[in-house]
Amino acid sequence: MPTQTFKLNGKSVTVDADDDVRLLWVIRDLLGVTGPKYGCGINVCKACTSHINGKAFNPCSVRVADIEDNDEVTTIEGLADTAEGDLHPMQQAWIDHDVAQCGYCQPGQIMAAVAKVKQCRDEGRDVDDSAFEEIRNICRCGTYNRIREAIKAGAEHM
Ligand code: FES
Ligand code: FES
Repeated sequence: MPTQTFKLNGKSVTVDADDDVRLLWVIRDLLGVTGPKYGCGINVCKACTSHINGKAFNPCSVRVADIEDNDEVTTIEGLADTAEGDLHPMQQAWIDHDVAQCGYCQPGQIMAAVAKVKQCRDEGRDVDDSAFEEIRNICRCGTYNRIREAIKAGAEHM
């Protein structure tokens, strides 16, 4: 079986996995990192949203062989280490706004929020309703209003 190497939350990892295995299963089942959630497996629900080299992506739709050795994959477990303090400002904003209901979609929502704020800054755009409309993460509990309030608050500290 081939070996696959990439960086996960700041550490180089190597696993035995067939090339066609989707990265989400490698992260969750082989490496035991379960923050990225399985919802649809076909890049629709966005529950698995994580970062690759600082940008949002969905590991359920990426073959593990398509990840390069030096690609930096960050999940919700590694997000705090990308900022000062014990929590990333977006995580703190989520707590302050009591966003989560069942919680299942929330790791992906936070990862999508952080990536969207960074993208807006890189492009010189405001973090506003039009930016929020681009976030396609589904929340079956309907926490969308609290998510938007938390993103605004978190962005102020990023
Ligand atoms: S599980 Fe990845 S997008 Fe739904
Ligand atoms: S908090 Fe339940 S699915 Fe979003």
